[in-house]
Amino acid sequence: MTATLSQNTQTQTTEPQTTQPLTVAEAIETRRSIRKFVQEPMSQGDLREILRLAGLAPTANNVQTTRFAVIQDRALLAQLQAVSYNQSQITSAPAVIVVYSDMEDALNTIEQTLPATMSDDDRQKRAAGLRGQFQNQDVAQRGQWGLTQANIAFGFVMLAARGLGYDTVPMLGFQPDKVRELLGLPEHAQFAGLLPIGKRAEDGFPHHRHAVERVATFY
Ligand SMILES: Cc1cc2nc3c(=O)[nH]c(=O)nc-3n(C[C@H](O)[C@H](O)[C@H](O)COP(=O)(O)O)c2cc1C
Repeated sequence: MTATLSQNTQTQTTEPQTTQPLTVAEAIETRRSIRKFVQEPMSQGDLREILRLAGLAPTANNVQTTRFAVIQDRALLAQLQAVSYNQSQITSAPAVIVVYSDMEDALNTIEQTLPATMSDDDRQKRAAGLRGQFQNQDVAQRGQWGLTQANIAFGFVMLAARGLGYDTVPMLGFQPDKVRELLGLPEHAQFAGLLPIGKRAEDGFPHHRHAVERVATFY
């Protein structure tokens, strides 16, 4: 992936701003959790492009369980912050992307994930086969499976955003039941997390990570 980190002269940060394209490695290296954002609305085009890129994340059997709730309404963001232990990055950001999995919707509409070139007969067989894989699991069990798919997309959103010159902070510090209630999401919805997104107005912290040798075993 090659993307552009656009110049933003309003950004109050010492981080070098560049118009040079970012490689995947550069997007990864320069991503860090940002909790203070420039007070300007998100470009709606960029927001949609970030979600389009995140939608290219792989899912098992291409079931595409990930759903995005994009919040830009200031009053709703304030309510979201209230059910997120009052973490101020939520209202500092111009938008918050709630990344969640809806496995039940995915299963009910599985035909939509199959190629248009498939014959009706093949489509029905394939859909029945995919549904059959989960028939012995309860909603919670298959919900967990769906969440593993959404977690991959969660990472993709962060890197797609960085590649387009935006920053995020992944968040699990919120009350899931209250967020479901606030957004009118079904009880079975499983959250990958919240992602406040915008242009950085702080540098964040330098990376402090294990060395490869500490976490990798080579066989
Ligand atoms: C799944 C997940 C949940 C997190 N939840 C929160 C959160 O609720 N609030 C917060 O301020 N940071 C949260 N973080 C951010 C981490 O603190 C941060 O990613 C970590 O310290 C590494 O810093 P970096 O993202 O700048 O590399 C979360 C990160 C992840 C991956």
